[in-house]
Amino acid sequence: MKFAVALAAVASISPAAATIRIQKLEKRELATSPPFYPSPWMDPAAIGWEEAYQKAKDFVSQLTLLEKVNLTTGVGWESEQCVGNIGSIPRLGLRSLCMHDSPAGVRGADYSSVFPSGQTAAATWSRALFYNRGFAMGEEAKGKGVNVLLGPVAGPLGRMPAAGRNWEGFSPDPVLTGVGIAESTKGIQDAGVVACAKHWIGNEQEHFRISSEAQGYGFDISESLSSNIDDKTMHELYMWPFADAVRAGVGSVMCSYQQVNNSYSCQNSKLMNDLLKNELGFQGFIMSDWQAQHTGAAAAAAGLDMSMPGDTVFNSGRSYWGANLTAAVLNGTVPEWRVDDMAMRIMAAIFKVGQTVEQDPINFSFWSQATFGPVHWRAKKGYQQINGHVDVRADHGDLIREIAAKGTVILKNNGALPLKKPKFVVAVGEDAGPNPLGPNGCGDRGCNNGTVALGWGSGTANFPYLVTPDSALQARAIQDRTRYESILSNYATSQIQSLVSLDNVTAIVFVSSDSGESYINVDGNKGDRNNLTLWKNGDDLIKNVSSQCPNTIVVIHSPGPVIVTDWYKNPNITAILWAGFPGQESGNSIVDVLYGSVSPGRTPFSWGANRESYGVDVMYEPNNGKGAPQQDFSEGNFIDYRHFDKANSSLIYEFGYGLSYTSFDYKNIKVEKSNAAAYQPTVGQTSPAPTFGNFSRNPSDYLFPGNASGGAIDPVYLYVYPYLNTTDLQKATTDRNYGQNAAEFLPPNANDGSQQPLLRSSGKSSPGGNAQLYDTLYTVTAEITNTGLVAGDEIPQLYVSLGGPDDPLIVLRGFDRIRIDPGQTVQFKVSLTRRDLSNWDTAIQDWVISSYPKTVYIGRSSRKLELSAALT
Ligand code: NOJ
Repeated sequence: MKFAVALAAVASISPAAATIRIQKLEKRELATSPPFYPSPWMDPAAIGWEEAYQKAKDFVSQLTLLEKVNLTTGVGWESEQCVGNIGSIPRLGLRSLCMHDSPAGVRGADYSSVFPSGQTAAATWSRALFYNRGFAMGEEAKGKGVNVLLGPVAGPLGRMPAAGRNWEGFSPDPVLTGVGIAESTKGIQDAGVVACAKHWIGNEQEHFRISSEAQGYGFDISESLSSNIDDKTMHELYMWPFADAVRAGVGSVMCSYQQVNNSYSCQNSKLMNDLLKNELGFQGFIMSDWQAQHTGAAAAAAGLDMSMPGDTVFNSGRSYWGANLTAAVLNGTVPEWRVDDMAMRIMAAIFKVGQTVEQDPINFSFWSQATFGPVHWRAKKGYQQINGHVDVRADHGDLIREIAAKGTVILKNNGALPLKKPKFVVAVGEDAGPNPLGPNGCGDRGCNNGTVALGWGSGTANFPYLVTPDSALQARAIQDRTRYESILSNYATSQIQSLVSLDNVTAIVFVSSDSGESYINVDGNKGDRNNLTLWKNGDDLIKNVSSQCPNTIVVIHSPGPVIVTDWYKNPNITAILWAGFPGQESGNSIVDVLYGSVSPGRTPFSWGANRESYGVDVMYEPNNGKGAPQQDFSEGNFIDYRHFDKANSSLIYEFGYGLSYTSFDYKNIKVEKSNAAAYQPTVGQTSPAPTFGNFSRNPSDYLFPGNASGGAIDPVYLYVYPYLNTTDLQKATTDRNYGQNAAEFLPPNANDGSQQPLLRSSGKSSPGGNAQLYDTLYTVTAEITNTGLVAGDEIPQLYVSLGGPDDPLIVLRGFDRIRIDPGQTVQFKVSLTRRDLSNWDTAIQDWVISSYPKTVYIGRSSRKLELSAALT
């Protein structure tokens, strides 16, 4: 019967109408990414890069084409000691350079530290701690021989709270993330290691980031996800923190796996050539994420500078670059200036951070912690000492403890905290104790056993030790003569109930949720969290304890918000703390906050009542047949608090919120207007593309040594080399487009090395964009007094209402973390820049201050704004 109805329905459509419908389905208008060519070349006068450019020029001018290509192409997965290495230049004494994870420590190494996640660092709202964390991580990477540290992270920004890798970055607010990524970059690079701002851009979820990975999970798609982002949202939200990283002098950027507007990020000329290199004036190099490169010459033309890890597919021995790039330059498909620019950008970044041609050796191997082993891990070749077990930790444990404590947020406190020599403490929950498999028992932390101190994936490092909450609380209890017991199971219901129902108990319940990178699936969570609820029966555990104990304190370890709706108002729950992902000193840090010796932080994201309340969510099912899943960022700028404000919906804990052990009074807001000069759109032209040195056009000079030229190289299996196998250039390359006329094969202007116009929004030699965007237009001050009895850190926040009908209600534009003694009054001061007060004008392609009336607000969170003033 149903069948007949369906047939009738079809029959009622005329053949012409049916054709139209099919056409419409097929022609679903997909977002497109406009082309931008040629790829901008380095600017010798760029501020902060002048000396590095000179040194790079001296070095690169000596290189052969093969040596230049060697700088641009990784040697292949597992071919050297780091997660990525490029070829060496033995003739000039440059060893293979090492690109290595992670944004939280030296991944896979021994005798190195595990730092708090970026998100936990963000909760400190402390510029000094962002910098110090970056510097300490840079020192550790340097001590192991790492040249480029693959962090910090501003993508994902945190569009969707369930997205797997939000914890690697800072906050869904672009200003907080911008300060976080800029200060981290400065710290890392001051320690002598090149930082890598990643992932550029729109890498907001794990599902479908790589089509082959998704196929492994049973999804039938042939292309990776496309993040469809409009120009305004791109500038005002997702690019903002990257602009700060570029302005801070970041040496490298990693392009992301997924597509943006249906063009893969690592061959997207709009993203790399236009936005990053032209508009932001980025002078360093762009490396691909691992296997995120999809083409050879086209990626070069679109602005990619380094292929990582160098092979097309791990351990394939094939590369889009290497020999293919050599051949492409020899036949003119890729112009000489482009490969020179790649080499210049890479070497300038290396010199900029103080590194020299002579490098300390790499003294660890990502692939093994054994002392001896093959240096070429995949080929099992070059047996030697691969691990010096160099202890690079110094006193970083103290800093890690401090950051995690100051990044812990007190969400609720009915007088239960701070603890003062309590009579009897009971810690409850698996999240208080150790992983029975050991702190590093799950590869890349890919499990949720015991206390969660970091998420999973490439953003991790090996714990040198992990102080559990249980061990730290017990040590403190012994010191205070407190009675102490713990039950490290979430399911021992009757034992828990009988213990916590005793008199005098302060029960501290530890609960968690977890997320990570999608190559690991933890309990069915393919990177992204499946939900925002607590894992392992956490809600029931809390209800169970709080039903028996009138003094129940909840501590949450999680990669972002969890749903607390059911229990947060329960009067027996006297305190709630969010402890993020604290790193190796977890237990000590939480003790410092619980006992009041450290001032806590403020939440760097909003806590909604349920997952729907966030307005946007992870896409868990493909929506475009076998084609690229289409993720439309149609909410624009309205994520996190901007969304909740627009929807006028209530929040459980708002962005910027957190309690303190003392109280603060805000008064006396003052606005002072500066005499900044009127904005001058940049005009003028670049110089023509420079080339450095000469190279032979004779293919026989490019043969594999030992092949025809009788050289001495004993090739390593599956290693990616720059050499040609034959002088027949047609056969030498595996690129089927090889030998075609570049003008036909590559987009118009791709090979044009003539002078190019400067963009009005770009700077003249000023990384970060037009320098006047950063002129101070107003200085806003307010007075804050500590009206309580103890010293404490206040975290005042400044928000601006830009006033337009399409603007968020308010946007964060300034903050500080200030130590204030009881009775003391301090000044909070924010310089508002032109960018802070502007919108991106898509018509003129520049930042413009609208004529809508603007207001500044100062307060202690995004919804407690006690002071305001008009900007005239
Ligand atoms: C893929 C990840 O997306 C990236 O963040 C990481 O740096 C590389 N793998 C190398 O491990």
